Amino acid sequence: MTPLDAKRSLQLNDNGQLQHFLSIDGLPRELLTEILDTADSFLEVGDRAVKKVPLLRGKTVCNVFFENSTRTRTTFELAAQRLSADVISLNVSTSSTSKGESLFDTLRNLEAMAADMFVVRHSDSGAAHFIAEHVCPNVAIINGGDGRHAHPTQAMLDMLTIRRHKGSFENLSVAIVGDILHSRVARSNMLALKTLGCPDIRVIAPKTLLPVGIEQYGVTTYSDMATGLKDVDVVIMLRLQRERMQGGLLPSEGEFYRLFGLTEQRLKLAKPDALVMHPGPINRGVEIESAVADGPQSVILNQVTYGIAIRMAVLSMAMSGQKTQRLIDQESEEQN
Ligand code: NCD
Repeated sequence: MTPLDAKRSLQLNDNGQLQHFLSIDGLPRELLTEILDTADSFLEVGDRAVKKVPLLRGKTVCNVFFENSTRTRTTFELAAQRLSADVISLNVSTSSTSKGESLFDTLRNLEAMAADMFVVRHSDSGAAHFIAEHVCPNVAIINGGDGRHAHPTQAMLDMLTIRRHKGSFENLSVAIVGDILHSRVARSNMLALKTLGCPDIRVIAPKTLLPVGIEQYGVTTYSDMATGLKDVDVVIMLRLQRERMQGGLLPSEGEFYRLFGLTEQRLKLAKPDALVMHPGPINRGVEIESAVADGPQSVILNQVTYGIAIRMAVLSMAMSGQKTQRLIDQESEEQN
């Protein structure tokens, strides 16, 4: 089994349906499109007077966040609630792990409380995969962001934003700008754009903020905004991930803004109808000018709204891809 097959097999069941959602890596275009189509159909639920559908009634979703988050955690909560699931959210950084309990023990305890699905955010790359490999066979794991590695629901909400505003991916030029080195959003977005057929993916960053081997993602790198932004259809800005930086990578925030900040002036290099995106939290005056963040081309708040629909899609798809207890019993009887 190749590493790609291994990733695919952990995330997909024997029928090719989603059973965990850990990374974009290894997932086929049809599945990403199915997530987008399902999310599209859920968008309307948010406009209803009663914002609920009964798909996950009687199921328990547990958000386990070992790292801080506002947008991601609350939109996962809302998504689960709109699907009629019971939801609990745990900020584990402030509870048992600080008392020395391992990641594994925390999960085992939550499993004993009969949760059907865990949404996990962790500062270690690979944490969600590790949990998915060890958890009971009928519990689904959704990655809410692991270290610098992956943030697949953010990538899918970004793809939904692009598709809803631009129609398709086929003729687009998309630029991802800023701290690529520390960004799980950049990695997941590069993979999703590639899988969905975007022909021109650009990354614009100072050389010190580009990871080694970035070419393998099939992107073109630029070290200045003037050439990188030329005629693009979409600009995805990233936050400087200071918490993951170990000194010396940047002269100063002021210098970064001077060279890579998205100002009104610079945005003119892109197509006149180019979209401005950002996963948040935004730092005004560090990577983006306020007038651009709040301007007519910005879809930053639409991204948040679409995030709920994407998370509803992923939760409901992963739940229906789970093995039932009956099937698990049947398989273990067959093995004995
Ligand atoms: C991103 C994350 O946590 O990776 N934010 C988010 O999910 N809304 C990006 C970031 O923190 O800059």
